[in-house]
Amino acid sequence: MPVIRFIQKDGCAKEVDAPVGLSLLEVAHSNDIDLEGACEGSLACSTCHVIVEPEWYDLLPQATEDEEDMLDLAFGLTHTSRLGCQIIIQDELDGLTVRLPTGTRNMS
Ligand code: FES
Repeated sequence: MPVIRFIQKDGCAKEVDAPVGLSLLEVAHSNDIDLEGACEGSLACSTCHVIVEPEWYDLLPQATEDEEDMLDLAFGLTHTSRLGCQIIIQDELDGLTVRLPTGTRNMS
């Protein structure tokens, strides 16, 4: 089973098993990773924003225009940002590393 590495808001990496066919958002939720996903994958929010490590970004299928539009609203957008609910786990993604953006919430 592919392993996905999440770099959490505190900088600690967590490696989790990711069943093929699930979205990155579903994988995060089943492993207590703090990725919100308010619309549960229907491309109506940007709270599942993740920052893909550059060496992995080009290996992912390209974002659709709808995803790009939603990403534009994400806080802390980067060149390698994607929406977690739109990344579907495949065998080739074994080792994929994504970072959770800091500062989307808890900004006091
Ligand atoms: S969960 Fe809302 S766009 Fe991904």
